[in-house]
Formats: sequence, structure tokens, C-alpha cells
Amino acid sequence: METKLLNGNNKEAIAEASKILQDGGLVAFPTETVYGLGADALNADAAAKIYAAKGRPSDNPLIVHIADTDAVEKLADLETMNRTHPDMVKKAHMLMEAFWPGPLTIIFPKLAIVPDGTTGGLPTVAIRMPSHPIAQELIRTSGVSIAAPSANTSGRPSPTTAQHVWEDMDGRIEMILDGGAVGIGIESTIVDMTGTIPTILRPGFITKTMLSEIVGDVTIDPAIIEPDPNLRPKAPGMKYTHYAPHGTLSIVEAVADESANRASLHSGVKVSYNATEAETLRVAEKIKALVNEKEAQGYKVAILTTKEHASLYKNYSHVLIVGEGSKGQTISARLYAALRECDSEQMEYMYSEAFDQNELGGAIMNRLLKAAGHRVITV
Ligand code: TXA
Ligand code: MG
Repeated sequence: METKLLNGNNKEAIAEASKILQDGGLVAFPTETVYGLGADALNADAAAKIYAAKGRPSDNPLIVHIADTDAVEKLADLETMNRTHPDMVKKAHMLMEAFWPGPLTIIFPKLAIVPDGTTGGLPTVAIRMPSHPIAQELIRTSGVSIAAPSANTSGRPSPTTAQHVWEDMDGRIEMILDGGAVGIGIESTIVDMTGTIPTILRPGFITKTMLSEIVGDVTIDPAIIEPDPNLRPKAPGMKYTHYAPHGTLSIVEAVADESANRASLHSGVKVSYNATEAETLRVAEKIKALVNEKEAQGYKVAILTTKEHASLYKNYSHVLIVGEGSKGQTISARLYAALRECDSEQMEYMYSEAFDQNELGGAIMNRLLKAAGHRVITV
């Protein structure tokens, strides 16, 4: 199959992409979080093509993208929910009002119209209204509710540019709409509204604090915090080794100096931008020692750091600045691109500083830890 790469800001490209979706084909498109690989969510055959193109396990459900809140009642069983947990319906509406369009995915009980092929056999459906203008234009013009996972090959970092999608999907899908680099760079927050309390199944740009401000109590699926093999994450996708670069990535993190007087410490472990100078230097010394050791053995080794700390690694040849430690979104926006760069440069070992874990940082570290297979070296 020949894959077309077109400018998504062009109306004719959107019209052509819409036709492909209506005919049951696959189109990759930008959203504000990452690029999605879209198909008609209500067409089981079309959804099945997504799994084939990605090489994705078929028990891993897809997110359905809509452009209009009215679409929710056509996909979600709000009536049943209203009978069993009317307060959760109310809260879901409050979240939609507060965060849509935007990087929040909401899980509802599904209506029969949503095929099992889209939900991986689950009785629930994940719905999100993206804010990216090209995504909205595509949903509106096609009139299709678009099932879309991230447009990467299963196991690779999610794509944040059309070029990344091309690397993974050329020859496997009909079209890629190019909208340039995305703004957020990590996948949407997923919140499950099918229980008795809103539960975060995947952390993202919309943080627990932001959700709580709107609906009060919010919990986090324990399986996404601890890498405990006995806990099965409620979002099936969270159990796979996602975002894995080819080389071996480790995170180096300083254990907090107790003498440092800081407001927010996370379980005695300290990270990046509000680290003391001593802690930062300790991490840098460890990373340099590890890099020296691996390079002496003949390996290609990369260092992932922040703009603020880059000067600590002046004499090293493969230093990737992920973003500014004090601005979380510069890190989330470039994290996956940095991991892909390590792959294209054939890095065999990578050492990353831990980034700040507050708010958005929690979601960033969730992705970095997964990419590192939870290998953390503390100093
Ligand atoms: O930002 C995003 O959400 C991007 C863009 C393209 O919108 N999409 C995305 O899709 O990240 P994907 O397929 O890579 O991740 C979807 C996640 C998986 O972990 C999946 O298991 C979970 O959502 N999920 C989907 N439907 C679910 C459901 N009904 N119940 C629980 N988890 C669900
Ligand atoms: Mg994905």
C-alpha cells in the first residue's frame, strides 16, 4: 500500500482523508497529545486494521475521538449509568465541560453500537474530544467517530511528528495528515467513570489536582504507580512495555539530602529542578561514571538531561537536552522524540536524569519509567 503524506491544514487533504475513513481505511492525524492512527470506530473491520497496522494485541481497547459532546450519548450507556450512579454521570458532564476539547479521555459503559473490536471486548468505551484543529476538522468533515490509538508500531515511543508516524507506518496505512510537532507530547489522561469514584487509569497533562478541583475525590489505579506484577492495570494498554527504545535506558536519581529544606518531597527521593546543587552534582557524577564505563567497553551511550544541567556534561558526545527542567511541558513535548533519536543513532545505553515529579512531571516520569523498564539507579 502506498502511504500519502499530506498537509493536514489543506481542506482537500481533509476531504480525501474523510473519504478513506468512510470507506473503512486508516488515516493518521495529529492531536494535541500525540499522533493518532484513525479508523471508523463503529466499523469492526476498520478497527481490526488498526491492530494489524500497529502489531497491537487485540485485547487492548481503542479510544474513540469525537468533535461534539452530543456524540457521547450515541456511544455511552448514560441511561444505565444514570440508574446505578447518577452522581457519576453528573461528574462526567462536569469533566467534559471543564476539559473538553482537550487531553482527557473518559471511560463510560458502552452501548451495543460500539463493536467489541473497538473496545477489545470490554463492556466499556473510552471517549475523548481532542482540541487539535486538524483532528476536529477530520472528525467533523468525515462524520465519523474515530477510533485512534497512538500511531506508533506497538512497543515504540508514541509519535509526536508526522515524520515519526512515517517511520513506523509507511506502507501500512492509506494516509498521514501532517500537522507539525504536537504541543503536549504524552498521551491523554484517562479517567474511568464506570465505578463509584473517578479513577485515573493513565496519568497525563490533566492532573489529579485539576480533576479534583472539578469533581472532588479522585483515585489513581494502584497498578500504574507500582510496578507490581500482581496488580493488573484497568487500562489494558498500561500493562505492556510501551515506549521502549531499542537500547537500555536507566534513570539516575538522587536520594534527598535531609538537610535540604523543601516543601514537596516524594518518598525521600529527589529530582531535577528543585534539587540542591549537591544532589544535582551527585547525579551528574554517577551518570558520567556510568557513561565512561560503557564507552570504555565500546558501546554507544547517550545522556538525557535538561537545558539547565547540560553544561555538566560538556565533554560528552551524545547529550540530548529533553527540555527545560523548570517547564514541564517542554519535557513532555520532546521526550518521545528524544527516545526515537536514541534509536536512530543506535544508542546501546542511555542514562537519563529523573525529572521533576510534581503534577505534569508525574505523567512524564510514568512514561520515562516505563521506557526504562523501571531501572532506577539512586545515588
Ligand atoms: O492522547 C491519546 O489518548 C492518544 C491520542 C491519539 O488521542 N491515544 C492513545 O491511544 O494514547 P492508545 O491506544 O495508545 O492508548 C489507549 C489506552 C490504552 O492503555 C488502553 O488500554 C486504554 O486507553 N483504554 C482504551 N479503552 C479503554 C477502556 N474501555 N477501559 C480501560 N482502558 C481503556
Ligand atoms: Mg499508545
